[in-house]
Amino acid sequence: MRLKDKVALITGAAQGLGAAMATRFAQEGATVFVCDLNTEAGEATAAKIRNSGGKSTFHKLDVACEADWIAVYAAVVAACGRLDVLVNNAGINIRELIEVMAEANFDKMLAVNVKGPFLGIKHAIPLMRKGGGGSIINMSSVCGLVGHRYTPEAYTITKGAVTLMTKTIGVRYAKDNIRCNSIHPSTVDTPLVQILFQDPKRKEERLGEVPLGRLATDLDVANAALYLASDEAAFLNGVSLPVDGGVTAY
Ligand SMILES: NC(=O)c1ccc[n+]([C@@H]2O[C@H](COP(=O)([O-])OP(=O)(O)OC[C@H]3O[C@@H](n4cnc5c(N)ncnc54)[C@H](O)[C@@H]3O)[C@@H](O)[C@H]2O)c1
Repeated sequence: MRLKDKVALITGAAQGLGAAMATRFAQEGATVFVCDLNTEAGEATAAKIRNSGGKSTFHKLDVACEADWIAVYAAVVAACGRLDVLVNNAGINIRELIEVMAEANFDKMLAVNVKGPFLGIKHAIPLMRKGGGGSIINMSSVCGLVGHRYTPEAYTITKGAVTLMTKTIGVRYAKDNIRCNSIHPSTVDTPLVQILFQDPKRKEERLGEVPLGRLATDLDVANAALYLASDEAAFLNGVSLPVDGGVTAY
């Protein structure tokens, strides 16, 4: 059990990559706080984990709302008394080019993708420090490493901010044994992407950029997060880890 006795909070965990990480972490012994805006799907994810013998509860959280963070951490402390792992996974992508994007849409993306992790980390630090340390994992993207030709600008701007948020936190709080690393997936094979791929040109574009010749799976990403969360990664701090089959290697 690679996360035995660890307490983990994952945002955007009702579905997609967040749910895959929650499931994988619970399989390895963690108590997982599944947090999301979507109560119905979040409750279902936590119930599925419990039905498979894992420890998990759902908590409604809007990552852009500081009061929500304070409430959810109070619930974590009441239930477990500690926090070992925070995964800032919730993220949105309003796919509009910069030249047409409304200011309100840009603000929305900043609120979820940048202010969300900022607030989560802000309130996690005192808790982790009290517990002797912790692992913070921020979900960025290949778009947080390079200008990606198929992705509109706002997403890249927010994911780039996540990349350097990770490094500055890793540098500042290493003294408290708090590590902070980011994960940078390329396109993940999800139902959403399958819809996108009904246009064969788009499928060709996305597959064509991956040296390994396939899309990422949610398990590829969950296993990378599991490693960063675990003590096996005790000396990894401030790292930007691509899970991209080599997309950013050339
Ligand atoms: N899927 C990909 O191809 C891919 C590639 C690279 C990076 N990413 C990143 O991985 C993360 C997860 O992506 P996904 O594909 O699983 O997305 P998804 O849309 O399937 O799931 C995102 C979850 O976040 C939740 N959410 C949205 N706004 C929220 C808020 N304000 N507060 C709390 N929860 C909120 C949604 O309800 C949803 O459950 C995102 O940060 C995304 O940018 C995804």
